[in-house]
Amino acid sequence: MNNFLTDTRFAGIEPFESKIWLSSPTMHGDEQKWVDHAIETNWVSTIGENINKVEEQIAEYIGVKYAVALSSGTAALHLATKLAGEKLYGRAHPNQGTLQGHKVFCSDTTFAASINPISYENGEAVFIDTEYETWNMCPKALEKAFELYPDVRLIVIAHLYGTPGKMEEIKAIADRHGAFIVEDAAESLGTKYKLNGRWVETGTLGSYNCISFNGNKIITGSSGGMFLSNSKEDAEKVRKWSTQSREAAPWYQHEELGYNYRMSNIIAGVVRGQIPHLKDHIAQKKEIYERYKEGMADLPIKMNSFNPEKSKPNFWISCMIIDEEAMCETVQGQRDALYVSESGKSCPMEILEAITAFHAEGRPIWKPMHMQPVYWMNPFITKNGNGRAQSNAYIKAVGEIDVSADIFRRGLCLPSDNKMTREQQNVIIDIIHRCFK
Ligand SMILES: Cc1ncc(COP(=O)(O)O)c(C=O)c1O
Repeated sequence: MNNFLTDTRFAGIEPFESKIWLSSPTMHGDEQKWVDHAIETNWVSTIGENINKVEEQIAEYIGVKYAVALSSGTAALHLATKLAGEKLYGRAHPNQGTLQGHKVFCSDTTFAASINPISYENGEAVFIDTEYETWNMCPKALEKAFELYPDVRLIVIAHLYGTPGKMEEIKAIADRHGAFIVEDAAESLGTKYKLNGRWVETGTLGSYNCISFNGNKIITGSSGGMFLSNSKEDAEKVRKWSTQSREAAPWYQHEELGYNYRMSNIIAGVVRGQIPHLKDHIAQKKEIYERYKEGMADLPIKMNSFNPEKSKPNFWISCMIIDEEAMCETVQGQRDALYVSESGKSCPMEILEAITAFHAEGRPIWKPMHMQPVYWMNPFITKNGNGRAQSNAYIKAVGEIDVSADIFRRGLCLPSDNKMTREQQNVIIDIIHRCFK
């Protein structure tokens, strides 16, 4: 690793006194009030007023009839995926998942938590390549996947970094094939999407929808998540599963497998204090994105893009992608990366190391799921068809394409903390400029 503090390109820049985070929790005061309220009233459990209130408030904000508060976004995704499997294929034996023996199409560029529940339920994740316009699931690749696997009935889709995917196209494809959608809106709470001419919130776009209140999200409970639905029956099923699937009997009676996935009333207190600040957080994150865009307009890079006619992102994390011609030579291994610094060029690793040296936090783009060793045996589909094993020692692959891998190779997440000042952000922008010197 370079010593950026002595590198003459960075002369005159001092490390930040306190670290600039990628995205850290921002508390406002009322969080403490509602946590205290839970303790004072002795509702220090998975029932209580805070839970009821946050379920009501989030359901109203998003525009769904029911919200079920859970211990994490991952728990919400697990139960949503399990429920989809049960609806499609019937109840499973307790020692089998509801997706046993079935393939599921899913986002490729996302956090593992989006798609691991497919494996928890014994299904096989089939990764669908990404498109460049929103960095989400590519509808053309999804069409191709249905050509190859016409029996698939479930799609799991995430909205990356707060930018919604091309949901109109994806929903139309899903409808044509009679498939359900599990929507992972963990990163996109507060994001709006224009669906058939009407603005709606992400979290309403799937058959089963999930959000997260993880500590780094746009608002947080320190942890927590929610399942969102317009179906009373689905919401009640998820609530039941999340509280160990207890039946109405004097003793603990179980007719279904259960989980300890309910949100605690203490966590709900933090979420309750945060909800009134969601819009402010989005406005701050939007300013950060716009300042990066403007401040780096002269560099050979682009910001993560979106179509303003179709979406109003929550700008959770600002990202950039380096133009191919401006990429310095770089090699990514499984656990580390090497690069050769070159004047006029840079690469994500160099920028991330420079930012780190000056005491700020960036991050690589989510490493695509089809590139993760745990999923190396799972299919990966691009708009040209099978995305794996297309070449051999004698035949050069034709039309090989892997948008996910390309975005991972050239992209990075920028410090996007809403407590970062304009002056601090200017220093980050300056550091990035100097990486290209
Ligand atoms: C896209 C995505 N899905 C799912 C999750 C999981 O949420 P949680 O951390 O609340 O389990 C996260 C974030 O953590 C995420 O970024």
